Amino acid sequence: MSRPVLETRTLDKRYGGLHVTRQVSLQMQAGDRLALIGPNGAGKTTLVNQISGTVTPTSGSVWLAGEDVTRRTQAQRVRAGLARTFQITTLAPHLPVQRQVELALFEREGLTGAFWRSIDAYPALAAEARGLLGQLGLGAHAGWPTERLAYGEQRLVELALALALRPRVLLLDEPMAGVPQGEGARLLAALDALPPALAVLIIEHDMGLVFRFARRIVVLAEGAVIADGTPDEIRGDPRVRAAYLGQ
Ligand SMILES: Nc1ncnc2c1ncn2[C@@H]1O[C@H](COP(=O)(O)OP(=O)(O)O)[C@@H](O)[C@H]1O
Ligand SMILES: [Mg+2]
Repeated sequence: MSRPVLETRTLDKRYGGLHVTRQVSLQMQAGDRLALIGPNGAGKTTLVNQISGTVTPTSGSVWLAGEDVTRRTQAQRVRAGLARTFQITTLAPHLPVQRQVELALFEREGLTGAFWRSIDAYPALAAEARGLLGQLGLGAHAGWPTERLAYGEQRLVELALALALRPRVLLLDEPMAGVPQGEGARLLAALDALPPALAVLIIEHDMGLVFRFARRIVVLAEGAVIADGTPDEIRGDPRVRAAYLGQ
């Protein structure tokens, strides 16, 4: 097997007496479609936060493409190819969608300071932004202020901002949360159309989506990995059923 694009080695996180992740060792390869599932409070978000760098592990390490990034900042991990969806609140409500994506592209290219002065001098980046928005079905809204988009469309903008970084690994923490039923199909289509070589880790409660999207499922319970396998293996696993009893 080739070198993992993402790896965690025996990640432990404690908050005082609370042991939130326990010896979590995971590997992801290019092109993986991995769902991380588990009951509420299992430690899924805390694990993803340790991978992205917003939470410091108590012990253990995080590796990106063979490099130990445990001590790296979030921004350094982004530059090493790790992206997660931004929270809605980080979108600038009045800024046109196309401008937001261009800004992310400028950041990727290290051009941030020059943005407002020189956007017109970089037609390739403007075209790339239009291409991304088109790919996500947002082409018709490129000139709209983000606040005028429907909630599900705003989540698509977040996805565009993450993809603008050309990541190798994409972390999605409950991308469907709060998206009205009628808007879900577009988000699903966007997930299906993600670049094939991208490694995608998704946290999701909707088991229909999990079993449709994932080719591998990792189950976390009380901070520990209790199962790691194909959807068929996970479906039939008695430990997984037991972990969900009472939910
Ligand atoms: N900053 C924190 N301080 C103390 N406890 C926390 C903190 N963050 C998360 N926890 C606790 O860790 C456990 C796992 O939380 P979380 O990772 O959000 O679970 P999940 O995403 O699987 O629902 C919960 O019991 C939660 O209360
Ligand atoms: Mg969570």
